[in-house]
Amino acid sequence: MDYPARRMRRLRRTPALRQMVAETRLDVADLVAPMFVREGIDEPRPIASMPGVVQHTVASLVTEAKRLSGLGVPGITLFGVPEHKDARGSGASDPDGIVQVALRELRDTLGETLVLMPDLCLDEYTDHGHCGLLDLHGGVDNDATLERYGEIALAQAEAGADLVAPSGMMDGQVGAVRAALDGAGYVEVGILAYAAKYASALYGPFRDAVDVSIAGGGDRRAYQQDPANVREALAEVRLDVAEGADMVMVKPALTSLDVIAATRAAVEVPVVAYQVSGEYSMIVAATERGWLDRDATVLETLGAIRRAGADVILTYFAGEVAELLGSRRG
Ligand code: PBG
Repeated sequence: MDYPARRMRRLRRTPALRQMVAETRLDVADLVAPMFVREGIDEPRPIASMPGVVQHTVASLVTEAKRLSGLGVPGITLFGVPEHKDARGSGASDPDGIVQVALRELRDTLGETLVLMPDLCLDEYTDHGHCGLLDLHGGVDNDATLERYGEIALAQAEAGADLVAPSGMMDGQVGAVRAALDGAGYVEVGILAYAAKYASALYGPFRDAVDVSIAGGGDRRAYQQDPANVREALAEVRLDVAEGADMVMVKPALTSLDVIAATRAAVEVPVVAYQVSGEYSMIVAATERGWLDRDATVLETLGAIRRAGADVILTYFAGEVAELLGSRRG
């Protein structure tokens, strides 16, 4: 009689054995919570396509950030929803703009216990919804946009950001932001570069979350990457590191596991993956219908993103996972 050469099942037999030989672990210290703050509201507002996620008031943002920090979540990224939008996205760099106001309040209340890394972009602030300034033909003007990014970086640094996170996918954005920060003496403020950011359908619910619609039904394919490409993603990653990125991000996460793995192998800086709004909403919708187990699905997807090589994960499930992992430890 032939027996199997190696019995793989021996180490799978009990939870303790499985726990001991697990190659990848999920730790709350690896998670970052993306949060939304809206100007001019008195109560947090639910986001229809992201059940459980809200547009915060400054006060409710601070309360929730404090709670997350208490659960062990080390950082948040912040998106602003301004009351007024214009062609240049003025609110993004206004010292009294919503994100700057919120950053100061967070810093005052939380000190240095929570890493603050605001998203640095224009789309939430422009009336046309693009991530940059438009040229005369309605295209996005790369180099004019870089100047605006520099201004936003300074406003965010002044308000207390630990890192700024340029997400507009303009060429040279990391170098321009680094130069602006250094020029004003903010040498300690870091850059989390959205390096490999794909033009993805999975950002749909996010646009709802920040009240953005792109003028004329347009899209971002002229600046975000084609999901067909991985070599191009690595070129973006290398450029961003050369321009001074302290960390690089790959986004979305679950559709880019190969890109996360390749990025991890290509550079030494921390690799961040963003489990985006659509990834969140797909899981929530299916679990609301009773088709998937929520806790198991959340842990499995985040585990897979870690296994692919992400050091840090941005996820709207951060608080929930922190509670889950905390309760499992007893
Ligand atoms: C741009 C930005 C977007 C997201 C993060 N930063 C939207 C876009 O590129 O259209 C998407 C995040 C998500 O879907 O959760 N400021």
